[in-house]
Amino acid sequence: MTADDVGVPRTVLRGTLRDGLRVVIKSLVPSDRDDVEHGFGELSERTKNLRFMTGKDHLSQRTLDSLVDQVDQHDHVAVAMWWERTSQSDVLLGEGRFIRLKDDPDCADIAVTMADELHGQGGGTLLMRALVLRAREEGLCRLSAAMSPDNEPSHRLMRRVGPVLRDVVTDGEREVVVEIPDEDVLDPGPDPLKTAGTP
Ligand SMILES: CC(C)(COP(=O)(O)OP(=O)(O)OC[C@H]1O[C@@H](n2cnc3c(N)ncnc32)[C@H](O)[C@@H]1OP(=O)(O)O)[C@@H](O)C(=O)NCCC(=O)NCCS
Repeated sequence: MTADDVGVPRTVLRGTLRDGLRVVIKSLVPSDRDDVEHGFGELSERTKNLRFMTGKDHLSQRTLDSLVDQVDQHDHVAVAMWWERTSQSDVLLGEGRFIRLKDDPDCADIAVTMADELHGQGGGTLLMRALVLRAREEGLCRLSAAMSPDNEPSHRLMRRVGPVLRDVVTDGEREVVVEIPDEDVLDPGPDPLKTAGTP
């Protein structure tokens, strides 16, 4: 099954990281499985713990099934970030997904991960933006994320999506629920380097 098979665009968004490298965010497809597995293996212990609540070296085949095969690109939407200039078989830079809540179908749980060496370059914001675009297309109204209370980058990412409806810490876990606004608030706008003109 490909993204085209389920009627969603393969390329969701293109963008530029702070160091100037161009990236493309595509809908995740089953053939990305090996890259998801390899990408996980490259993450630091802290990133694995923050995202997957595990410091394990490898993802189990069962977890990989849920991360790749159970993606239907409607109720479980997943995207992956790649360098724009290289082929899809090259290293995965980041991934993100949301899963619609069964008991609250206007809302989905969302999570994103970026390769450690790229943190702070705007990649997480691009992934979040791509997922918000897809969430709007899928008719969602709210996004919810569970995170460690000291996970400042995730907290900042969620707060930038839209109005915060809930932000509580219970039993060592922070839950943040935000409204999906009609407009694209994560859009960085025109690149000032491109719009300023050549001196
Ligand atoms: C969350 C994550 C994807 C963010 O990726 P990123 O590429 O660093 O994101 P960005 O560069 O777009 O930055 C996002 C925000 O975090 C802030 N940020 C980035 N690194 C930070 C740091 N080390 N400390 C504090 N804030 C930081 C940025 O300033 C930005 O906030 P702003 O928009 O208010 O300025 C990344 O940190 C990650 O993979 N973390 C581990 C997995 C995880 O926690 N996933 C989320 C589970 S819900």
